[in-house]
Amino acid sequence: MRLNNKVAVITGGSGGIGFETAKKFIAEGAKVVVADINEKVGQEQVEVLKQNGGEAYFVQTNVTKYEEVVDLVEKTVEKFGRIDVMFNNAGISMPKPFLEHDPSSDYDPVISVNQNGVYYGILASAKKMIELNIEGIIINTASVFGILPGEFTFTYNATKAAVNMMTASAAMELGVHGIRVVSIAPGRVDTPMIQGYKDYGVWDQVMQEQMRRKLTNPEEIANTVAFLASEESNSINGSCIRVDDGYSNFKAPLLTK
Ligand SMILES: NC(=O)c1ccc[n+]([C@@H]2O[C@H](COP(=O)([O-])OP(=O)(O)OC[C@H]3O[C@@H](n4cnc5c(N)ncnc54)[C@H](O)[C@@H]3O)[C@@H](O)[C@H]2O)c1
Repeated sequence: MRLNNKVAVITGGSGGIGFETAKKFIAEGAKVVVADINEKVGQEQVEVLKQNGGEAYFVQTNVTKYEEVVDLVEKTVEKFGRIDVMFNNAGISMPKPFLEHDPSSDYDPVISVNQNGVYYGILASAKKMIELNIEGIIINTASVFGILPGEFTFTYNATKAAVNMMTASAAMELGVHGIRVVSIAPGRVDTPMIQGYKDYGVWDQVMQEQMRRKLTNPEEIANTVAFLASEESNSINGSCIRVDDGYSNFKAPLLTK
């Protein structure tokens, strides 16, 4: 198993991609800390992981607060003795046409979770890995919308581009400590997050953007994250890995006006 004896933290662990990654990490031999603002779902999912023989633990965490992310890392080390993998994956998307934006509801909250949350996760986990002399890996969830613009997701696009630059910048400074930092760019993944597009009459077009003409399964994202968390990917650092079924190579413009 590729993650034997590794301890991994997953933020947004109660969600679609996070939970599938928790299952995959455990299947690969890791102990997993599931962190999410949603305690009820997170606790239930940790029970499922344990019933299937996994070592898992839930820590309620709001990634918009640095002190809570520091506490998450501390609790991980208290519980499992180390931290090898930090998957900064919590994110929100609230699709809305740009001209209908109110900054307080359509800009600030998305920046807080998607951008600040990833920054806090990189910083807190890197400090702890260095303190414990662990050559770990930090994986951040970006998006195709960090590479290409997308309609109705102005702020989301900005945050995901920031995730990619934070990834590359952190990789440069942390490489000397043996810590790798990478990001992933999923396309359209079948999780609750994407359902908001149904409100804007572009659902059929969303399918057309994927080369297989269907949503990517969260399991397929989890497989890539497990590879990146493993030593098999040791030569990948600072990069954004596109897990988007071709979307960012072949995107056609949406047809709305
Ligand atoms: N679904 C897609 O099509 C898609 C595509 C590209 C990128 N992504 C990214 O993948 C990541 C996971 O999304 P998903 O598709 O699994 O969606 P999801 O909505 O199923 O999961 C997101 C999780 O983040 C948690 N979360 C939200 N705010 C939080 C906070 N302040 N602190 C801690 N946790 C918080 C939610 O409770 C939820 O469990 C996100 O970063 C998202 O932007 C998703």
